[in-house]
Amino acid sequence: MNKIIIAIDGYSSTGKSTLAKQLAKELHYVYVDTGAMYRAVTLYAMDNGFITQESFNKEALITDLKNIKLHFVFNEDRGFGEMYLNGKNVEKEIRTLEVSQLVSQVSTVSEVRKKLVEQQQAMGEEKGIVMDGRDIGTVVFPNADVKLFMTASADKRAKRRYKELLDRGDKNVTYARVLKNVESRDYIDSTRVDSPLTKAEDAIEIDNSDMGLEEQFERIMSLISTRV
Ligand code: DC
Repeated sequence: MNKIIIAIDGYSSTGKSTLAKQLAKELHYVYVDTGAMYRAVTLYAMDNGFITQESFNKEALITDLKNIKLHFVFNEDRGFGEMYLNGKNVEKEIRTLEVSQLVSQVSTVSEVRKKLVEQQQAMGEEKGIVMDGRDIGTVVFPNADVKLFMTASADKRAKRRYKELLDRGDKNVTYARVLKNVESRDYIDSTRVDSPLTKAEDAIEIDNSDMGLEEQFERIMSLISTRV
C-alpha cells in the first residue's frame, strides 16, 4: 500500500486529535499532535517565568529555545505518542486551561514556529503519518496527499472541551472560561502574521457540529481509501 501524509488542520477543540488517532490506528500510521509541541514550549516558558497572564518576555524565550528538547514516546496502552519536554513526560501538564490560555501567544513567535516546523517536517520524511495542527496543510506539508480542515460552532467546541477538563478532574474550570478561551484562541490563531490558521485551497472542509464520531470516521476513511 502506498504510504501517504494526512494533514488535519482546524479550530481548537474540533476533534482533530480524536480523528487523527482513529485514522493512524486504522492505517498503522504515526500520529503527531503538533499542538502538544506548542503547548510544551508554553509550559517551558511558564516554568521559567518567561510568560505569565500579564507579561511575555519573547526575547528570553527565543534565546533559550536551544535548550528545549521535544520528543514523543509511544504509549502502547494509550495508542499514541506522549509529549516529552527535556526528557520528562508532560502529557498531563500541557493540557491545563492555564497552558491553553497562553499557548496562542507563544505560537505567534516565528522562531518557535521555525524550530517546531523543522522537527515536524523531519518526522514526515518516511510518510505514513497523520499530523494535526493549524498550519500542516499550508506550511508544514503543502504537498500532503490528503488535507482536512475541521470546523464546528464555538459553543459545541467549548462544551466538548469543558467536559474533557471536568473528566480530567480540573475543578477550577467553568463553561464561560472555556468558551472565552476557545474564542480568543480562534482569534489569535487565525489573525497572527506568521502561518495563520487558514484552510488550504485543496483541503476538504468538515463541519462536525452535528456529526457523530463514527459517521465522521467512515466518511473520511472512504475518501482516504481512494488515495492509499
Ligand atoms: O491543537 P491544540 O489546541 O492543542 O493547539 C494549541 C495551540 O497551539 C493552538 O491554539 C495554536 C497552536 N498551534 C499552532 O499554532 N500551530 C500548530 N500546528 C498547532 C498548534
